[in-house]
Amino acid sequence: MGRTSGLGDSAIAEAGPRPSADTWLPPTAPKEKTSHHQSNSRFPKQLLASLLILLLLLAISFFIAFIIFFQRWSQLIKEKKNPKEVFHEKLICEKTHLNVEGKSWGCCPENWMISNTSCYFISSEAKTWTESKKNCTGMQALLLVINAKEEQLLIIQKLNRNSAYYVGLSDPEGMHQWQRVDQSPYNRSVTFWHPYEPSNYKEHCVFINFRQGNWGWNDASCDVPQKSICKMMKIYL
Ligand SMILES: *[C@@H]1O[C@H](CO)[C@@H](O)[C@H](O)[C@H]1NC(C)=O
Ligand SMILES: *[C@@H]1O[C@H](CO)[C@@H](O)[C@H](O)[C@H]1NC(C)=O
Ligand SMILES: *[C@@H]1O[C@H](CO)[C@@H](O)[C@H](O)[C@H]1NC(C)=O
Repeated sequence: MGRTSGLGDSAIAEAGPRPSADTWLPPTAPKEKTSHHQSNSRFPKQLLASLLILLLLLAISFFIAFIIFFQRWSQLIKEKKNPKEVFHEKLICEKTHLNVEGKSWGCCPENWMISNTSCYFISSEAKTWTESKKNCTGMQALLLVINAKEEQLLIIQKLNRNSAYYVGLSDPEGMHQWQRVDQSPYNRSVTFWHPYEPSNYKEHCVFINFRQGNWGWNDASCDVPQKSICKMMKIYL
């Protein structure tokens, strides 16, 4: 009895822990594991989702900011551009020794004449003085105002001796109070009138023409269509 009971005890004792270990350990361990797994996987999923949303929002705001920045920047570039540069699409440039504002290229529109500092357009379409003046301002230029003997000598090389060309000088009052279209003061010592000109108080405008072997200025009626010359400062790039 004692043996059997002992055996039985031992058998029970041995058998006891086995089932208990089988029944106890697996439920507790997996339970804990699964609960940990659930909380661990739920948390990152929410975190990941919010991170993704945050990233998406960031990306969108960066994109919008970039577009706004690009628009402002291109607008700035446009504003910074010389209106002459915007108006005249094709420019002919040459390296300049003047280096204006740190810019070393002096440019003139295509088909314009280039000098040291200016560009000249010789219009062969005959127009009244007022229309000629408008034509120049329409091209971001002014009717020619001659400032020096050298300038006049340069211009006349390109002119036709049988034509007259309006310049930016007029006398609206008819009192020989000559006004220059660039608003600079009229200086009697820097004028190139033909001999005995100006001659007629009824002629309020001025053209340059060839007479008796010389190019010179002449007062003329503003309404007679003539050719004309426009002048603008070089465009520096
Ligand atoms: C252009 O510049 C040169 C050298 O500086 C000078 O000799 C010449 O007179 C200038 N031409 C005009 C038309 O101003
Ligand atoms: C000025 O006249 C010229 C022709 O002489 C023409 O080509 C040009 O388009 C005119 N410009 C304006 C602004 O009217
Ligand atoms: C007129 O031009 C001459 C020669 O360039 C100059 O010496 C004089 O100071 C000028 N006069 C005025 C009032 O600008």
